[in-house]
Amino acid sequence: MSVRVGILGATGAVGQRFIQLLDDHPTFELAALTASDESAGKSYRKAAKWRVDTPIPADVAEMTVRKTDPADVPADVDLLFSSLPSSVAADVEPAFLEAGYVVSSNSSNDRLAEDVPLTIPEINPDHLDLIEVQRDERGWDGALVKNPNCSTITMVPTLAALDRFGLERVDVATLQAVSGAGYSGVTSMEIIDNVLPHIGGEEDKMETESQKLLGTFDGAEVDWHDVDVSASCNRVASLDGHLENVFADLSEDPSPGDVAEAMREYPGVDLPSAPNQLMHVFDDPSRPQPRLDRMRGDGMQISVGGVQETPRGVKYNCLAHNTVRGAAGASVLNGELLAENGYL
Ligand SMILES: NC(=O)c1ccc[n+]([C@@H]2O[C@H](COP(=O)([O-])OP(=O)(O)OC[C@H]3O[C@@H](n4cnc5c(N)ncnc54)[C@H](OP(=O)(O)O)[C@@H]3O)[C@@H](O)[C@H]2O)c1
Repeated sequence: MSVRVGILGATGAVGQRFIQLLDDHPTFELAALTASDESAGKSYRKAAKWRVDTPIPADVAEMTVRKTDPADVPADVDLLFSSLPSSVAADVEPAFLEAGYVVSSNSSNDRLAEDVPLTIPEINPDHLDLIEVQRDERGWDGALVKNPNCSTITMVPTLAALDRFGLERVDVATLQAVSGAGYSGVTSMEIIDNVLPHIGGEEDKMETESQKLLGTFDGAEVDWHDVDVSASCNRVASLDGHLENVFADLSEDPSPGDVAEAMREYPGVDLPSAPNQLMHVFDDPSRPQPRLDRMRGDGMQISVGGVQETPRGVKYNCLAHNTVRGAAGASVLNGELLAENGYL
């Protein structure tokens, strides 16, 4: 069955990844693109500063960019992917939901709302049924699902694998790529020959979203995991791919081999955009590296390396592609989960 999809914020860094990932998708058919009023009315080719590593699909290049307004999007679009700035999304997404659209969104607004599923299909697919609570409470026919922040989604699968060893506390330092800030986020004068040791709001997102994602859903609400997470987030001069140094305190005492095995064996999901294996664990302690490893599993796999014991548990490095697994790919996977669960 073909599903007609649209992209809100289609001209940006994440919007372009959506277009790349949706090209040749087995069931999703791209039917609408929106952006700001400045881009509306232009062909996509003219409106977007295309920078992903494959050409703009020919049919997409000639599509006309629409206003980001429910009145401007065809009513027969079944699913909207949102990659709007969160300040814009906070105003605009509710209008689409009230108009009956189903939205799979990257934007950070509402990720922690009690009735909004924050979902990684391999980790907490059951949380998707919060949509029933959301529809009851908000009285809309549409549905909103969020994927987590790009730095959170890189680490949380590894924590889910560690949970069986009594996950108590996590300290993490990130080395985040410039594309994570969007096109106008970081200038070359700021980042070349430099590291920026602060990314506004990012630490808080890692600390809270991780607890919600690892929480348990009882059919009415999510009981957040009580793991303490402390994050320090840094912007570095790689283009794509966030690398993170994780230190996890555990109540049990697994060997590094046990930890690597738990990560390698963590189950995946049978959805079109999911990687065959969720986590790849390197024995080589010099991996993963952004340039070499961000495209593993078509950018959807989490890479891990350098697993070592510490006095309180383990430490390791993990890496994911921030605009694929960390943004557009995560949202497409949530769209596939929505379809599989009959929400479209
Ligand atoms: N980049 C990442 O790695 C990443 C990862 C996870 C989540 N996210 C989240 O994804 C969202 C998009 O990020 P991005 O990096 O793609 O940003 P971006 O490159 O700045 O793109 C923003 C998009 O939103 C559109 N837009 C801006 N203002 C608008 C308005 N007032 N009305 C309608 N459309 C408007 C832009 O259209 P114009 O081209 O017409 O201005 C563009 O299409 C953000 O919420 C971000 O936090 C990003």
